[in-house]
Amino acid sequence: MKRRPIIIDTDPGIDDALAIAIALFSEELDVKLITTVAGNVSLDKVTYNALRLLKFFKKDVPVAKGCSQPLITPFIDASDIHGVSGMEGYDFEEPDDRLLLKGHAVNEMNRVIQSSDEKITLVAIAPMTNIALLLKLYPEVKEKIQEIVFMGGSASRGNKGVMSEFNMATDPEAAKIVLSSGIPLVMAGLDVGWKALVYPDDSEKMKNMNKTGEMAYALFKKYRGGSMKTGLKMYDSCAMAYLLCPEMYQVVETYLDIELNGSMTAGCTIVDLKGYLKQPANAKVCMDLNENMFREWFLNAINKCI
Ligand code: BDR
Ligand code: CA
Repeated sequence: MKRRPIIIDTDPGIDDALAIAIALFSEELDVKLITTVAGNVSLDKVTYNALRLLKFFKKDVPVAKGCSQPLITPFIDASDIHGVSGMEGYDFEEPDDRLLLKGHAVNEMNRVIQSSDEKITLVAIAPMTNIALLLKLYPEVKEKIQEIVFMGGSASRGNKGVMSEFNMATDPEAAKIVLSSGIPLVMAGLDVGWKALVYPDDSEKMKNMNKTGEMAYALFKKYRGGSMKTGLKMYDSCAMAYLLCPEMYQVVETYLDIELNGSMTAGCTIVDLKGYLKQPANAKVCMDLNENMFREWFLNAINKCI
């Protein structure tokens, strides 16, 4: 089977760890590069975490370190949710730096995209700083990007502000550049993430499935223990779910933008379902997710990991 080439831009991060696992062990995806960006915790920490994950999974995918700051907005991490290191609760082996490329993530993304025979899909599961800079520094890459599938934004309410989601609100100006790029976009937002739930029965199954399940359970238990009973939210896996099982989503093509200046709503995605803004559709927005399909797909995907 022909694998779809992807680059994952990420800030691991508990739920990033699972999205990365699913992509690395999928028979349909070919992960060409992992790029890191400041988000859940600092750039140094997320890069170290990406390398720890690759050592754990025994996968040799190159990693490139990207931006340590959003473009304009001051950086505030989410270590209250992801722990000081971003991935606490499991005793990972120390990684070596063998997989860490010398070049900046933006240059390495450009290199991988330009040297590929096929178009590349960008999977963004973190603030969009690296991708925005890529599009500004190397606008010619647009032709060679198949689409940008991202976890972020919301068609309803937020988790960073009343209406704004963490990845978008951490670097709203970067998101603006990406959303207005003309590249095909797919948004799997916070509100579908709220339905991507793994309940206690399934998290027990996951724990006993394999090493990956055991590691994921330990990470979630440490920092999301409170939501074990009500369901663990697998936000970033929603982007992989779109690539691997789009049937689980109800999707609309619509105009998508982001609020930059609202005094209470900065960083909020604007999903113009009714066409008030009189703009052509620029994105596919996932509006709903079949919870049972997600659960089944997710457990199957984790079962393929080591
Ligand atoms: C998103 O923000 C981060 O906390 C998660 O890793 C996910 O990418 C959810 O808002
Ligand atoms: Ca993330």
